[in-house]
Amino acid sequence: SEDSHVTDYAFPFEGPFGTYDQFQLQRGLQVYTQVCSACHGLQYVAFRSLGAEDGPGLPEDQVRAYAAQFEVWDEALLDGEGDFRPAIPTDHFPESALSNAPDLSLMGKARAGFHGPYGLGINQLVKGMGGAEYLTSLLMGYTGETMTQAGATLYENETFPGGWIAMPQPLYGDDVVYEDGTEATLEQVSKDVSAFMMWTAEPKLAARKRAGLTGVVILSVLAVLLYLTNKRIWAPHK
Ligand code: HEM
Repeated sequence: SEDSHVTDYAFPFEGPFGTYDQFQLQRGLQVYTQVCSACHGLQYVAFRSLGAEDGPGLPEDQVRAYAAQFEVWDEALLDGEGDFRPAIPTDHFPESALSNAPDLSLMGKARAGFHGPYGLGINQLVKGMGGAEYLTSLLMGYTGETMTQAGATLYENETFPGGWIAMPQPLYGDDVVYEDGTEATLEQVSKDVSAFMMWTAEPKLAARKRAGLTGVVILSVLAVLLYLTNKRIWAPHK
């Protein structure tokens, strides 16, 4: 819609040195588990990645306990007949439970370029705005208006392209009780679950930034050495 807007929320993983906040990812996982997973899936994410140090960093026993809440179909059980069993860390999160609710594994990156249709399209570069800002704005963008179209209820949302979305407002604030004592305001739960979706979409962000920094340092040293070498080689001719 014309006033479609995305707010430039601050996230700890922005900028060349930014990294995920492990506690925020853990809170986001909690919001995902207790609210979003009723409809959405994370089929490309393995439970074991919840233990990643650059991710939520859950201890191994917690990863195993988390996975065990889910049932997966195992073809090898009952002599090849197949049966359900509790999930283990190498299994993936379930697919979306609701057929028209998109999988959220890659949503943080899928919406990275979306920072409103009326900008120059370079807000990601200039302001560091990406998928997480869109997602938080979407979760906070409900106006409360609804309409029915072709038998389906649509909900007005200032951030959704077109202004009407088939997802009812999922978060209102106080949707969860955080174990770390963080107050679960609407903005807080929205940002936490958006950060979590950014991590599922880009779990190697910290490693990539570290590799980039190493590259810059090595190339800087190389540039100095080449400069000095060049000086020395040409010294007799000057
Ligand atoms: C779509 C996130 C909870 C049903 C979406 C989209 C996102 C999202 C990012 C895609 C929007 C886009 O295309 O740009 C979340 C989060 C939730 C949550 C973070 C928890 C806080 C739910 C729940 C339901 C639901 C509980 C079911 C009652 C849907 C549906 C769509 C959708 C049906 C498709 C909407 C459309 O294309 O018009 N959700 N969701 N979501 N979600 Fe959710």
